[in-house]
Amino acid sequence: MNEPFPHGVVTGADSVTRIVHKAMSRTDDPRLAEIMESLVNHLHAFAREVKLTEAEWETGVDFLLRIGQASGPAKNEAMLLSDLLGLSTLVVLLNNAQGRGETDAALLGPFWRNNSPVCKPGESIARDPGGGDPLAVTGRVKDLEGKPVAGAIVDVWQASPVGLYENQDEKQPDHNLRGRFQTDPEGRFHFRTVRPKGYPIPVDGPCGELVRAQHRHPYRPAHLHFMLTRDGYKTLVTQVFAHDDPTIDSDVVFGVTPGLSGHFERMTDGTWKLDYDFVMQPGAKRIPRAPIP
Ligand code: BEZ
Ligand code: FE
Repeated sequence: MNEPFPHGVVTGADSVTRIVHKAMSRTDDPRLAEIMESLVNHLHAFAREVKLTEAEWETGVDFLLRIGQASGPAKNEAMLLSDLLGLSTLVVLLNNAQGRGETDAALLGPFWRNNSPVCKPGESIARDPGGGDPLAVTGRVKDLEGKPVAGAIVDVWQASPVGLYENQDEKQPDHNLRGRFQTDPEGRFHFRTVRPKGYPIPVDGPCGELVRAQHRHPYRPAHLHFMLTRDGYKTLVTQVFAHDDPTIDSDVVFGVTPGLSGHFERMTDGTWKLDYDFVMQPGAKRIPRAPIP
């Protein structure tokens, strides 16, 4: 245990912030020190600004407790809260948008798994004969100069036509609608799937209470998730949205940017086609922590 550190006693509401800073002032890790100093400043300023009552503070602590209790192997309620507050999208844009022509990044969401089946070009990720409109996806991965990125891993995942990811739905086979493809020497990839539909985020937990209290609808526009990785390139986590979805401009988790609108084209035989190219920027390959196993 560390020896006592005389950071002083609190003499009133005005002195708390200064004394907390002093108590934390021996933090070794400079980045942790910077983050905690700023967090305490903003938290204290927030409590002062809204004149937080004791009852409201109790409600907030209980809300966080229930966020933890609602999380488990099928659901990451903490990530959902970050998504609903726009924090996930803000962090993604702060860290990825360089304005050099790279594809916009979008939030990872709570349903990525890090061990999707490795697939051959053209393979179907619909491992369930449960129906849905067939969709053929094609695309190319390029660098900032327009040159093909060969050998990139294109990891794709999506919800089923009933709006559930396979890990939320016992009726779907393991890893349904998930797969990993590799780009060819021209940077191309293609696979088959079923057309995704828009779906509501899980609203059976504390996040749902918040959405209802704010009179927000819980829907995400239809989309496919992509994670592109290749040594020497910044990992690109993004989503491609159906341009014609009625909730394209009211995504409950703020993931849509104009560049991520994909044109889902209906073929004469009733099937669908999506062609979408990605641009990766140079940087470090980083595999995110999977929100669920
Ligand atoms: C998703 O698209 O998988 C998702 C993102 C944020 C919250 C819920 C679901
Ligand atoms: Fe999704």
